[in-house]
Amino acid sequence: MNRFIDSIAVVTGAGSGIGEQTAIQLAEQGARVVLVGRTPSKLERVADTINNSFPEPVADIFQADVTKEEEVQELGKFIQQKYGDLHVLVNNAGASGKSTILEMEASEWERIQDTNLKSVFLVSKILGKMIIESSEKEEQNENKANRSIVNVASLSGHKAGAKIPHYSSSKAAVINFTKALAVEFAPYGIRVNSVSPGFAETPLTEEGLKNKRFEEAIQRNTALNRVGKPEEIASVISFAASSEASYMTGTDLLVDGGWLVT
Ligand SMILES: NC(=O)c1ccc[n+]([C@@H]2O[C@H](COP(=O)([O-])OP(=O)(O)OC[C@H]3O[C@@H](n4cnc5c(N)ncnc54)[C@H](OP(=O)(O)O)[C@@H]3O)[C@@H](O)[C@H]2O)c1
Repeated sequence: MNRFIDSIAVVTGAGSGIGEQTAIQLAEQGARVVLVGRTPSKLERVADTINNSFPEPVADIFQADVTKEEEVQELGKFIQQKYGDLHVLVNNAGASGKSTILEMEASEWERIQDTNLKSVFLVSKILGKMIIESSEKEEQNENKANRSIVNVASLSGHKAGAKIPHYSSSKAAVINFTKALAVEFAPYGIRVNSVSPGFAETPLTEEGLKNKRFEEAIQRNTALNRVGKPEEIASVISFAASSEASYMTGTDLLVDGGWLVT
């Protein structure tokens, strides 16, 4: 499948889990990918995995904390200088924590809002401007390149999870932010959608899934009776980012194995 041939893509939180699998799939489908995260060793491992399967390197890494505006600006400058173009942005970086509302420190609330929501705003604003400018430089013709943004939200943005009120609130906000951005960017021909994963096996859920009872509860409550794999989420992100979803914007794709219907 070559649906991202000649495309430049940025994936935040690409050093593990869903972001890693998304970066791998975008590269396999023809994109040159920029892997973003805070830990260089994690990004290097994923970049090596990708680059080892191509004759020429197609994956680059850029260390940035996406909650910090100056670092996102630096990311923008790097992409501008190295590629001068941008087609696909996947805002995937995210974090969670466990607490009740009554026990939560304000600093913990802010950490989760910053990582899951402010980051999506900052990266969409700064790199979104670049996607718009790249699109405007193209000839006005019917074959304009596919350009789109995919934000990774969560099942918890649809139904608040137990003891994750900060996480659930931030992800509900990502779903609505996505709709606002879709309206703002539609006149430029840029589509914006979110993907909401249910439970997938990644470093984020590793601790919880070590608890057999937690895993059994997930199986019981999921119509497909199992936890998901990061590549099963990544394939929906890749679809939403691609021209195969050319008439889809401002929507959320729920990939929860049937949790909400049970
Ligand atoms: N796994 C699930 O069941 C599940 C369910 C619903 C939604 N999601 C969402 O899916 C997305 C990916 O999560 P995952 O499950 O793949 O977990 P993960 O493996 O922990 O991935 C999250 C990535 O985000 C990066 N990151 C965190 N804070 C960052 C920051 N401030 N700046 C830049 N990068 C940052 C982390 O790398 P560094 O720490 O090195 O920066 C990490 O590689 C998240 O948005 C998560 O909320 C996951």
